[in-house]
Amino acid sequence: MSEGEEVRLKLLRRSVLSKEHKIRSEDGHLLLPILEEVDMGYPVVERDMERVVPPPRSLSDVLDLPEGLEDQIPSSYEIVGDIAVIKVPDKLVPYRVELGEALLSLHSNVNVVLEDSGVEGELRVRDVVYLAGEKRTRTVHKEHGSEFVVDLSKAYFSPRLATERWRVVQQVSPGERVLDMFAGVGPYSILIAKHTDVKKVHAVDLNPEAVSLLKENVQRNKVEEIVYTMEADARNVDIKADRIIMNLPHSARDFFQNALSCLKSHGGYIHHYDMVEEEDVEYMIEHLKDLAKACGYQTEILDLREVRTYSATKIHVAVDLKLTPVPSSL
Ligand SMILES: C[S@@+](CC[C@H](N)C(=O)[O-])C[C@H]1O[C@@H](n2cnc3c(N)ncnc32)[C@H](O)[C@@H]1O
Repeated sequence: MSEGEEVRLKLLRRSVLSKEHKIRSEDGHLLLPILEEVDMGYPVVERDMERVVPPPRSLSDVLDLPEGLEDQIPSSYEIVGDIAVIKVPDKLVPYRVELGEALLSLHSNVNVVLEDSGVEGELRVRDVVYLAGEKRTRTVHKEHGSEFVVDLSKAYFSPRLATERWRVVQQVSPGERVLDMFAGVGPYSILIAKHTDVKKVHAVDLNPEAVSLLKENVQRNKVEEIVYTMEADARNVDIKADRIIMNLPHSARDFFQNALSCLKSHGGYIHHYDMVEEEDVEYMIEHLKDLAKACGYQTEILDLREVRTYSATKIHVAVDLKLTPVPSSL
């Protein structure tokens, strides 16, 4: 270790090194900025030292807007691979390019900025508009050691579900056959294949663009032996599984009976997602139980949790259900 570094560390340990000023050299000597006089066996001299400029931490640190608009700056946005996706509030529409440039300067790992104009339709594809950086919508996103090729203009993907996906992965038991009814580009299916001793995962999606990316991701993550992909409407799928993932929150309820018909004869588990008014959660659970009962199953609710707040009144919930066939004598 150099002499200068040794002294710097000693000053740091004694809490007398100023972190607000830069270290510099002068005539072959190192000048270390200190907060108070201290005897380290070296001369103490008085000099003007340059201040350290703290790196910008938020959009408001880098965005120069007319007065009165600062409170419109979004406090959150998503980063998918090297693409930042941001919702632009109405009042900031005239400054959307500046917003894009600000995001590029804030994150050195971001090369593209897109405006998120909402996720629409049954296929849940995001309407994105180019704001800044490279002109593309395709990227590679890393999650729990896997890599997902994503094209934000062609198929759904959200990094916000990473914790929820991992929660489900951890529930899978060895030897299970899993049906991922709304697989998208494959994050649930691939994470399950890579991190559990699952027998097979059937990954289904109706969007041909999603299935094309799903196939690419299955190969990229080397899980071809485990994940079977299928471009199909989940209504028409006839696969028997121990565990079913229904990640289509806006309309999963409409598919619940299809999911029940895909359970093995001894029953199994369903991870159901829903967008529901907070006061309707109980009703939603009762509705699912009634549907299960009509198909000959008794239901145990293993977990019920809020994934995130969706709007002022609606929440995005995850329900884990265990379905067991009702014995015929009951
Ligand atoms: C909310 S996305 C979830 C994607 C994925 N599970 C994830 O975590 O990223 C829902 C997916 O369901 C697909 N989808 C919509 N309707 C479908 C249907 N009837 N049958 C199969 N897939 C469908 C959409 O194309 C979309 O990729």
